[in-house]
Amino acid sequence: MTFVRTVPTTPFADQRPGTSGLRKRTRVFQSPHYLENFVQAVLDVAALKPEDTLVVGGDGRYFNREAIQIILRIAAANGVMRAIVGRDGLLSTPAASHLIRKRGSGGIILSASHNPGGRDGDFGIKYNTANGGPATEKFTNAVAARAAELTSFRVADFADIALDEMGTVNGAITVEIVDPVSDYATLMESLFDFTAIRALFASGFRMRFDAMHAITGPYAHQILEERLGAPVGTVIHGTPLPDFGGGHPDPNLTYAHVLVEEMFGSAAPDFGAASDGDGDRNMILGRNFFVTPSDSLAIMAANAALVPGYASGIAGVARSMPTSAAVDRVATALGIPCFETPTGWKFFGNLLDAGRITLCGEESFGTGSNHVREKDGLWAVLFWLNIVAARKQSVEAIVREHWTKFGRNYYTRYDYEEIPIASANSVMARIRSQLLQLPGRMVANRMVVTADDFSYTDPVDNSVSASQGLRVLMHDGARIVYRLSGTGTEGATIRVYIESYEADSACHAMETQQALAPLSSAALELSQLHQLTGREKPTVIT
Ligand code: G1P
Ligand code: ZN
Repeated sequence: MTFVRTVPTTPFADQRPGTSGLRKRTRVFQSPHYLENFVQAVLDVAALKPEDTLVVGGDGRYFNREAIQIILRIAAANGVMRAIVGRDGLLSTPAASHLIRKRGSGGIILSASHNPGGRDGDFGIKYNTANGGPATEKFTNAVAARAAELTSFRVADFADIALDEMGTVNGAITVEIVDPVSDYATLMESLFDFTAIRALFASGFRMRFDAMHAITGPYAHQILEERLGAPVGTVIHGTPLPDFGGGHPDPNLTYAHVLVEEMFGSAAPDFGAASDGDGDRNMILGRNFFVTPSDSLAIMAANAALVPGYASGIAGVARSMPTSAAVDRVATALGIPCFETPTGWKFFGNLLDAGRITLCGEESFGTGSNHVREKDGLWAVLFWLNIVAARKQSVEAIVREHWTKFGRNYYTRYDYEEIPIASANSVMARIRSQLLQLPGRMVANRMVVTADDFSYTDPVDNSVSASQGLRVLMHDGARIVYRLSGTGTEGATIRVYIESYEADSACHAMETQQALAPLSSAALELSQLHQLTGREKPTVIT
């Protein structure tokens, strides 16, 4: 008999999940009863039945293994009788989503995504429901409320479960340890033309994939180097480390600099890609060429017919509000609907479940489809390899042809990280105070047609999500958007998104920052961002 204890705890008022789960400094999660309290709240809301199966895994960051042992003990004490755990506690976020869909009733994913890990880094936890997707806002609000009122949690006392072997523990919970890669790799093989991609590599096509010492290392080794025959060494930084080698596992031009230097160097490979801490983000590079994530989504949609898993047609597309409108133009050309959702993958879930969309994405290096209910880094890389193999063109040529056909959406994002919360709020208040006066006024030589705080009504369940970002929309499709990040753990992060549309291909050769300079100055002027925060420039420009 396993001994189940009820442990008194004090409620936590700060366990409200943000854009993607609950993220805090690792030491906060390690503080007494913090993780336990949240897991108890999640299980209370999830109300799993005895016959249900809980999937558990994470990106391998510091505290991953310890957290899994705690979760299994609390799950067992709460009547969960069956759990599936990735070997060594590892599962990429998209692989976890697939496993939940295939075999689970819900899952707990441990990750703080692209945030640095380690003792002084970040940790995170989120719950995904039976469809494989992040729990809805209704669910996470209920968890936050429950966490703020709990006075005790239940825990089963048993020794640590060996995460590298199958086992049944004390009859309280059956824990099945699975290979984290194989099911996912098989899913990829069912969607893409592996024969054509294998032939591409056999012809001498050179690729570099930067796993950033995070979760996609084992996946990329198996899929790219073993199943697709890319030369060994194609994958760099391929061993997951608890602190990601001290790096910031975010695949962008700033943090994936090793890859970026090689791709913009003199002996650059044909294709470069990177993924983040938990494997759901992607960055796509050609030789000396960066593909803006918003363009990447549009190009995938435009070329979906070349990819076996999508060749029969895509039902619709969706993008988050701050993502550029490049994909909207493809949707119009294809005669399919395009939905504009708030930031965060959870908002795509209902549209995917209802079959209203097939592809979706965000400007923040996230793209995905109905194959799982998370964005998926390696999936996007394989989608691009499939397009390159089918079109037999360079990445740059594919993007330039796309612009010629659909026009170019110049796009950039400025991030101001770790701003004191009060000054971030004053920036947002200043913009908000001008929303009513802006329509009809000229900004950067353009007429403002709409200025508002984005509110979304889910077309499937009619739920309303208000206050999702301040928008200033111009007559010619140009936009400035301001949002506060929902994933940071220290202070506030202000994001400014700037976009303009250029139909004329004679004007497509401009450098992005140069093309957007008048709008960028206007965005700073309107918000008084630099004056109110004391910052002189963004922390990261994408
Ligand atoms: C950020 C991105 C958002 C993404 C989320 C999780 O959220 O902007 O698109 O879904 O990370 O990867 P934010 O920090 O802006 O709330
Ligand atoms: Zn991520």
